[in-house]
Amino acid sequence: MSRISLTTLRQMKQKGEKIATLTAYDASFARLIEEAGVEVLLVGDSLGMVVQGQSSTIPVSLDEMVYHTAMVSRGSRRALIIADLPFLSYASPEQALASASRLMKEGGAQMVKLEGGAVMLDTVRQLAALGVPVCAHLGLLPQSVHKLGGYRIQGRESRDAEVMLADARAMEQAGADLLVLECVPRALAAQISETVSMPVIGIGAGPSTDGQVLVLYDMLGITPGKRPKFSHDFLAETGRIDKALAVYVEQVKSGHFPAEEHGFD
Ligand code: KIV
Repeated sequence: MSRISLTTLRQMKQKGEKIATLTAYDASFARLIEEAGVEVLLVGDSLGMVVQGQSSTIPVSLDEMVYHTAMVSRGSRRALIIADLPFLSYASPEQALASASRLMKEGGAQMVKLEGGAVMLDTVRQLAALGVPVCAHLGLLPQSVHKLGGYRIQGRESRDAEVMLADARAMEQAGADLLVLECVPRALAAQISETVSMPVIGIGAGPSTDGQVLVLYDMLGITPGKRPKFSHDFLAETGRIDKALAVYVEQVKSGHFPAEEHGFD
């Protein structure tokens, strides 16, 4: 079985076929998620919160990301695996190259994800030029939670929306192949998805992005505390993990998830 490639994802965007993505942190879940038909596994640094019990993603180390990425790689045969570069592991292009090298060589990731806009352009350019596929992440940037003053929707003001659109374009020009948009008003996410040719995967960004991603533990309803508005507990209505995953994929593909109540204006 051949692995999903960026070419497949680009073709899916062109055909209007939605890309189903979920976070994964270990081999057993990677296998189950993949069997449900998910195309992209994201080894997110959200593992700091949902697996390690930290209050943010900031304490997650590169060693921990490599460890979890390797586990996911061992459980996966088909999905494209993206690994998050953790907080301050890509503060310069040189550091980003060294960190990406570990996630790909030791972890087996096919792509790395980094948070940030214009300030990341040189880094994206260098990674891409050296053959490292990059997923950009705009909107709510969890690694900047203390700078942002909390987890809140981004891009509501017209000036912020213009900057985000310009950042998305610039990221693509710099060589990014995929974009995650987190907690962005539906209309802005739709505009960005139409403007760039790379596939855009949304979380809390409405139904018009080229694909959707959720944090696995949120969509299984096992994350402690209040579930984010943009997520949905698929296990509650199905009672089995394999069914919950299959319903998620089906609802993303059919456009039933996210529904109106999961988005922001
Ligand atoms: O770390 C993560 O799980 C993520 C998603 C929220 C997109 O970055």
